[in-house]
Amino acid sequence: MKQHINWRELGFTYMQTDSLVVAEYHDGAWGKPQLRTDTMMPLHIGASCLHYGQAAFEGLKAFTRRDNSIGIFRPVENARRMAVTARRLVMQAPPEALFLEAIRLLIVNNLDWVPPYGTGASLYVRPLLIGTTARVGVMPAADYVFAVLCMPVGPYYKNGFYPVKAYVQEKYDRAAPLGVGNVKASGNYAAGMMGDLEGKEKGFPICLYLDSATHTCIDEFGTSNFIGITTDNRYVTPDSTSVLPSITNTSLQRIAADFGMKVERRRITLKELPEFSEIGACGTAAVITPIHSITCRGAIHTFGKENEAGATLTKLFRQIQGIQYGEIDDRHGWMMGV
Ligand SMILES: Cc1ncc(COP(=O)(O)O)c(C=O)c1O
Repeated sequence: MKQHINWRELGFTYMQTDSLVVAEYHDGAWGKPQLRTDTMMPLHIGASCLHYGQAAFEGLKAFTRRDNSIGIFRPVENARRMAVTARRLVMQAPPEALFLEAIRLLIVNNLDWVPPYGTGASLYVRPLLIGTTARVGVMPAADYVFAVLCMPVGPYYKNGFYPVKAYVQEKYDRAAPLGVGNVKASGNYAAGMMGDLEGKEKGFPICLYLDSATHTCIDEFGTSNFIGITTDNRYVTPDSTSVLPSITNTSLQRIAADFGMKVERRRITLKELPEFSEIGACGTAAVITPIHSITCRGAIHTFGKENEAGATLTKLFRQIQGIQYGEIDDRHGWMMGV
């Protein structure tokens, strides 16, 4: 039986469900994924994830579709990105088949927690990879734990698809040009908390980060990619070595191209901001957050109406959500059944 939850009022917060899935890597091989109900995990106090940040994660969503089946949005892309992150942090990645098997096992054992169709909610799936060998010298672990949790979530921003104010955070950088900003290393998020918090204290729910070498080009928002729509309807998104390749962004680029829009992945200078008619932040959690204004060096740049998302971002948002909820033909084969 489905949980008694007010699905429409869900936020984006941790909630314990029936079970989680764990697989372990020892002696050069991965074990089978196993279902667990205990959320506590014994960990050696010297584990490399604790001391040297050998920790990485992913985030993806599963949806109850119009025909009541459950679809997971592009999990293979998350498996691949976790493998890229693991390589960069010299960790062992779970093979793609294990990654997918663990997610399926988790969802079929937590069906009561998957929000029903029509509520606007979804099941957030959080794969985690950590190095567990005790290390005092700085070197990679020999043992790893791959764990996957899930929880029902509503839209990331409480007001849903509604424009927000952004702030260009220049006091702190998010990522170095040849650092680890382009992978989903857990430490990136601790490094970004100070800047995001400072922005929130100033009244901005979201911060925009610049390239750390020159502070002249746009990188991305704290936890989402930057999309600019030009007055002649081009889709422009930054090409940078320190931006996380967002699966939502690559999907939206594809949809934009399907709609006949020109898609540009290139350096975007701050000076170009006034040329955009719409700006969005995109990622799994909120899909697209329309940005009404960007405050930068004392100047406020505004885009579209204060209380209404622009037409192009609205169209892109509806299309991707339509695919996710099984209302629009999944012509690119993005949804995987459980
Ligand atoms: C730094 C950063 N950029 C972008 C994204 C969006 O990526 P995705 O669309 O794959 O969720 C995320 C969230 O995962 C993120 O943490």
